[in-house]
Amino acid sequence: MGDRLVIKGGNRIEGKLEVSGAKNACLPLMAASILSQDPVELDRVPDISDVRIMIKILEEMGVIVDYDHKGHMYLDARNLSTTRAPEEYVVRMNASFDVMGPLLSRHGHGEVSLPGGCKLGPRPVDMHIDAFKAMGAEVVKEGGFVKAKCPRLKGCRILFPKVSVGATKNSMMAATLAEGVTTLENCAREPEITDLAQFLVSMGAKIEGIGTQTLHIEGVSSLHGTKYSVISDRIEAGTFMLAGAITEGDVFIDNISIEMLENFVMEMRKAGQEVIEENGGLRVKGHRPINPLDITTAPYPGFPTDLHPPMAALLALGNGTSIMNETIFNGRYMYVMELGRLGADILVNNQTARIIGVKGFVGAPVDAPDIRAGGALLLAGLAAEGETTIRGVRYIDRGYQHIEERLRSLGADIVRVKEPLTPLP
Ligand code: UD1
Repeated sequence: MGDRLVIKGGNRIEGKLEVSGAKNACLPLMAASILSQDPVELDRVPDISDVRIMIKILEEMGVIVDYDHKGHMYLDARNLSTTRAPEEYVVRMNASFDVMGPLLSRHGHGEVSLPGGCKLGPRPVDMHIDAFKAMGAEVVKEGGFVKAKCPRLKGCRILFPKVSVGATKNSMMAATLAEGVTTLENCAREPEITDLAQFLVSMGAKIEGIGTQTLHIEGVSSLHGTKYSVISDRIEAGTFMLAGAITEGDVFIDNISIEMLENFVMEMRKAGQEVIEENGGLRVKGHRPINPLDITTAPYPGFPTDLHPPMAALLALGNGTSIMNETIFNGRYMYVMELGRLGADILVNNQTARIIGVKGFVGAPVDAPDIRAGGALLLAGLAAEGETTIRGVRYIDRGYQHIEERLRSLGADIVRVKEPLTPLP
C-alpha cells in the first residue's frame, strides 16, 4: 500500500523555505556525466526517488556514483561496463531516456528500453530518434528497446516539429561530441535546458544560443570533468508558494528568481495573491478572495504544465469559475476526481477544465495518482477542514524532497505513516 501522509488542515504556512535543486535539471546532468572522460561532481542534488532511480541506472552500466543524500554527488563514468540501460529501472521514469544521447555520442552505441506511456498519457520519443538519425545514427526498435549506433555522430541542422524538453536535451547532449556543427531549431527553452547547456559548457562543450530557441553546438573530441551546482526547482518553489497562498499564510522561498516563474507569478498576482521579490527569493502572502483565472499551459516561458494541478487546487477555492486549458499532456487531469473527494467542483471537457470555486475543502482519504497531482492534493489537504489522508505518497516522493518535514517546519500539521512497499533503490 505504501506510505500515507496525514494532514490536519487549517494551519497557516509561514516561514522561510530553502528551495531544492531541480529534479528536471539534475536527472539530465547525471546522465550527461556519461559524456565525460573524467569524474563529475554535482551539488544541490535533491534527495528524491527519481534521483535514486537514475543512480541505479548509471550504476548498473558501470558508472561509479557516490551520493551523500545531502546534496553532493560524485559520478565517474570513465569505465562503462555496458551501453545497455537496465530496463527494470528505465521503465520507472520517463527521464531515463536521457542516457541515450550521451551513450550514443561518447560510446557510439546505446540500448535503452522505450519509456512507454505513463499516467500523463503516451510519452513518445520519436523526435529524439529522428534527431539521432539525422546525425547519422542507425536506430531500430527491437524487443521494447531503442537500439542506436553510429561510430561518430555528424553535426547537421534539426528543426523540431514540436517543442520538446526531452528531445532538446537528448539532441544537445548527443551533439556535444559529434563531428562538426549541429543547429537545433524550435528548441525548448526551459531553465533546466539552460542549466544543462551551462553544465555541458563547463565540461568544455561549445554551445551558442543558450536560452534561445536555436542552439548551435560545435562538436568537440572530448569533455572534461566539472563541479556544478544544480539550478533551483521552480516547480517545487511554485508549489510552496501556493501553500502560502491557499492557507492565507506568509512564506518566503529562498534562492528562486522571478524570471524562472514569471508567468506563474503573474497569474498568482491576478488571483489576488501578494508576491514580493526580496533578498534573492520570492515571498507570498495569501489573501482571500482568490480571483478566478483563465490559464493555458505552454512551453517555457508560458504557464508550466507541472504547476497546472497545484494551481487548480488554489483556483478550486476561487471566487468564481476558472478555466484551465492543458496543451502539453492529455493525462494531466488525474487530480480532478481526487480533489473532488475534498469538495472541489471541476468539470473537464477535452483538454479544458472548468473550475467552479467552492467555499472550502473538507478532509477525506485521497490517492495521489502522479507527482503534480500529489502536489495539488497536499495543498488542498493543508487548506481543508479536518483530516486528509493521502495515499500513493511514492509519487510525491519522486519530486518533492522530504516533503512532510519541510511542510512541518512551515507550520503544517502533517505526519507520514510508514507502510512497507516494494522498496525503491
Ligand atoms: C519534461 C519534464 C516534465 C514537464 C515537461 C513539459 C523532465 C524529466 N520532465 O518532460 O516535468 O512536464 O517536460 O515541460 O524534465 N513529445 C512527442 N515526441 C517526442 C517527445 C515529446 O510527441 O519525441 C510530446 C510529449 O508527448 C508531450 C510534448 O511533446 O505532449 C512535450 O513533451 P516534452 O517537452 O518532451 O516533455 P518531457 O521531456 O517528457
